Amino acid sequence: MLSTGEPSESDPERESGDPTLTVRGLTKRYGDTVALQDVDLTVEEGEFVAVVGPSGCGKSTLLRVLSGLEESFGGRAAVDGVDVRDGGSDDVGMVFQEPRLLAWADVRENVAVGLPDGVDPDAPGAQERVNELIETVGLDGFAGSRPGELSGGMAQRVSLARGLAYRPEVLLLDEPFSALDQLTKYEQQDNLLEVWTERGTTIALVTHDVEEAAYLADRVLVLGGEPGTVATVIDVDTPRPRDRTHPEVVAARDAITDALGV
Ligand SMILES: Nc1ncnc2c1ncn2[C@@H]1O[C@H](COP(=O)(O)OP(=O)(O)OP(=O)(O)O)[C@@H](O)[C@H]1O
Ligand SMILES: [Mg+2]
Repeated sequence: MLSTGEPSESDPERESGDPTLTVRGLTKRYGDTVALQDVDLTVEEGEFVAVVGPSGCGKSTLLRVLSGLEESFGGRAAVDGVDVRDGGSDDVGMVFQEPRLLAWADVRENVAVGLPDGVDPDAPGAQERVNELIETVGLDGFAGSRPGELSGGMAQRVSLARGLAYRPEVLLLDEPFSALDQLTKYEQQDNLLEVWTERGTTIALVTHDVEEAAYLADRVLVLGGEPGTVATVIDVDTPRPRDRTHPEVVAARDAITDALGV
């Protein structure tokens, strides 16, 4: 949490009851392009929120703001009650839309990059953790491969493993399964649910896949238009574990599709 590394509860700047993610009146411009306009979002601790919307409506921009990568924007964005421009939280993990792997490093080294600061990647416990993550994303046998030798879907899974390595309290995921075949996608979605359930991680996941949003999320934020504004928010109250064909999940998927106007 922040630069102190202390848990959020003991953070003096955090007011009790602060949501984990708070976005108020967020407006982000790139030159003449208005990427986001007046966006509000609240994500409580341990909540799983999906963000959907047409290409170019500002989904990645929203995650970039929350991860502290953007300094200039209007409105407020805070993690654990601390404005991202004041440092936000150190405990935020981001899985980018493109894998962003180190070309000269193999899969094992690329995953190890995600280990928390100060953890020696060569220490036995760390190696075990990296191997476990590689296995979880279904890449055992490829630990020594370099990114240039991987398919797009494999590279995406390395990026996912790197994001999980840190065990952050907040995970921001930008279309993490978009390049995966259906079966692998289902496996990785369930793996993410397992991480979420076991660790109580707060998750914001961007996706184009309405079925994925309905299956995974407690709440789905539908962004619309250019500039991106919140078109609607859809609650998915279906108890877990969910069945992908549960009528409520299907109804949520249809409601999201309707809201997207597709
Ligand atoms: N670094 C940048 N410089 C200039 N314009 C940008 C930059 N990043 C994003 N934009 C613009 O901001 C708008 C939102 O982009 P963003 O990447 O957030 O969309 P997105 O919803 O993630 O789209 P996609 O679904 O295609 O990933 C787009 O019009 C895009 O061209
Ligand atoms: Mg994007």
